[in-house]
Amino acid sequence: MHEYYPLLVIGAAISTFAVAFIIAYVLMKDKKEAIGFERNMKDSEIIKRLLRYAKPYKKEFAAVFGLMIFSIAYEIVSPLLVGNITGIIKEDFEMYQLVSLIIAYAGVLIVSLVCTYAQSILMQKTGQKIVSAIRFDTFEHIEKLSHQQFSEIPTGKLVTRVSNDANAVSMMFTHIMVNLTKNALIVVGILVAMFAVNLELTLMVMCFIPFIILFTVIFRKFSRRAYRRVKDRTTDINTFLSENLSGMKIIRIFGKQKSKKHDFDVKNTGLGKAKGEQIFVFGIFRPVVYMLYISSVLVLLYLSASGKIKDTTFLGTAITSEILVTFYMYISKFFNPIQQLAEQFNMLQSAFASSEKIFTILDIPVGVKDYEGAVDVGEVRGDIEFDHVWFAYKDENWVLKDVCFKVKADQTVALVGATGSGKTTILSLLCRNYDIQKGRILLDGVDIRKYTISSLRRQFGQMLQNVFLFSGTIKSNIVLRDETLTDDQIMEACRYVNADKFIDKLDDGLDHEVREFGNNFSAGQRQLISFARTVLYKPKIMILDEATANIDTETEQLIQDSLERMMNIGTMIIVAHRLSTIQHADNIIVMSDGKIIEQGTHEQLLAARGKYYNLYTLQKDRRRIIES
Ligand SMILES: Nc1ncnc2c1ncn2[C@@H]1O[C@H](COP(=O)(O)OP(=O)(O)O)[C@@H](O)[C@H]1O
Ligand SMILES: [Mg+2]
Repeated sequence: MHEYYPLLVIGAAISTFAVAFIIAYVLMKDKKEAIGFERNMKDSEIIKRLLRYAKPYKKEFAAVFGLMIFSIAYEIVSPLLVGNITGIIKEDFEMYQLVSLIIAYAGVLIVSLVCTYAQSILMQKTGQKIVSAIRFDTFEHIEKLSHQQFSEIPTGKLVTRVSNDANAVSMMFTHIMVNLTKNALIVVGILVAMFAVNLELTLMVMCFIPFIILFTVIFRKFSRRAYRRVKDRTTDINTFLSENLSGMKIIRIFGKQKSKKHDFDVKNTGLGKAKGEQIFVFGIFRPVVYMLYISSVLVLLYLSASGKIKDTTFLGTAITSEILVTFYMYISKFFNPIQQLAEQFNMLQSAFASSEKIFTILDIPVGVKDYEGAVDVGEVRGDIEFDHVWFAYKDENWVLKDVCFKVKADQTVALVGATGSGKTTILSLLCRNYDIQKGRILLDGVDIRKYTISSLRRQFGQMLQNVFLFSGTIKSNIVLRDETLTDDQIMEACRYVNADKFIDKLDDGLDHEVREFGNNFSAGQRQLISFARTVLYKPKIMILDEATANIDTETEQLIQDSLERMMNIGTMIIVAHRLSTIQHADNIIVMSDGKIIEQGTHEQLLAARGKYYNLYTLQKDRRRIIES
């Protein structure tokens, strides 16, 4: 009996570890709700949706699994071959036997290496294709979201979905899925092979399995928490970054660098800590599995060596040197995939969490979309009518209250009124950025909801106060819709709106670089570029929202001049603070608090001596003071 004492010592050591881990497991509090990481979708649903993306690549997956079987063969067969080699090396052995075994070994090794290589290349390629499809769908869906929906989700979050989360999903296709299957097959294969070689020693190895399972379960709980934290903190940092980088100018102006730096530091440290926790958890788990591996090898060696190898018996069977070598190799190949299985299972969970986040974005129903039977607008005249329009951005906080007005084709209509009175909202409703709650908006006498959104928006040329320029060139910013236009056509549009004056002064003219947001141009120049962009397409209806605000007097003259020309292109609706710019409008609508309080021509409104008259005289006086 005393010969089993060393085995008891090993057992006691492992049990001590097990008890310590169980205590830690019980004490650990996993505050799921606090971190806001509840999963709503079932794993089965996520898998189903992911498989839909994988479906076009059935053949590739079949090939990958075929190759995988070959790459597994090495793990199972090589210990047997090495065992055989040990078995035949006796005092008088035939050299050809040894050589043929070595050749067999090398053959299996080479085939397995080649298969593993081919398999991982194929998997990488396929995985990347699948993920770029997912990324594309996500981006496409984000583009479809209405203004309202888009403004409700922080940009950083969307960036994280399309980049980080898509990457996690890509890991699943390129690594996790294959390795999970491969490792599971290896574990099963080795167990079967061990049983075939020696039942008793296999039972000995299996004594360690309950401990492996126990440690794995505990590890999964800790690592899941760590993963979740890392992910939340990453989204957090991305959101913070995208907002603050866009707002960097404001941060500088208000001298907020220090406090922003502090905020960033907190988030940064948080992410660092979360990563640290993750590393710590893995740092414990891997050595523990290693300990189990070493223990089982020790037991094997002890059992074999206690009887000087040759005629050792364990539970009645002899352990030959051949079996010893084979088992030693099997054991060392057995624990590694088990440890990896546990880790990959975690990554799978994390990939599922990412998939769910992506699918949640994809599942947002598009707020403003084509109604059934919507038709293309086709050729329009440009008559516009607001017919008792009521609109609220949220609930019943009416921003527009019973607004009625008509614009005849080719007329110019101006909207004036205090900030917040609803002018921008009116323009936004025209292009169906939002849907109204009550009333109708008519284009050529037809409710705009009867048209497809894309054909409706094509009728409008929009020039807004904050011109958005993309990084690229002046040319690429002007020809946004149609790349086939010639430089002459573009320059003609530029001349029409007086943009040629500053473009001609640039060495490279239309090819001049435009930096992010058009930072390297003045507000007036940006505005002129946006005018050129609009008139190039000669839209039926042009919309200008305070396009002449914050522009110097010199540029204002240019803009005023081009505005007057643009009025001849088609219907024009213009919001302006400077009343001098809209005196020639066919109709001036005065807004106050979401309602129309006056409308008429400049002369009519002045004669009425109402709100417009007051505004106009106020501005004129101020002008006179400035100019004198
Ligand atoms: N996206 C939005 N969500 C909620 N309320 C908004 C939104 N945009 C504007 N508003 C509100 O609607 C009102 C009218 O705004 P707006 O049409 O931009 O006024 P104006 O262009 O005349 O200055 C304001 O009270 C503003 O706070
Ligand atoms: Mg406005």
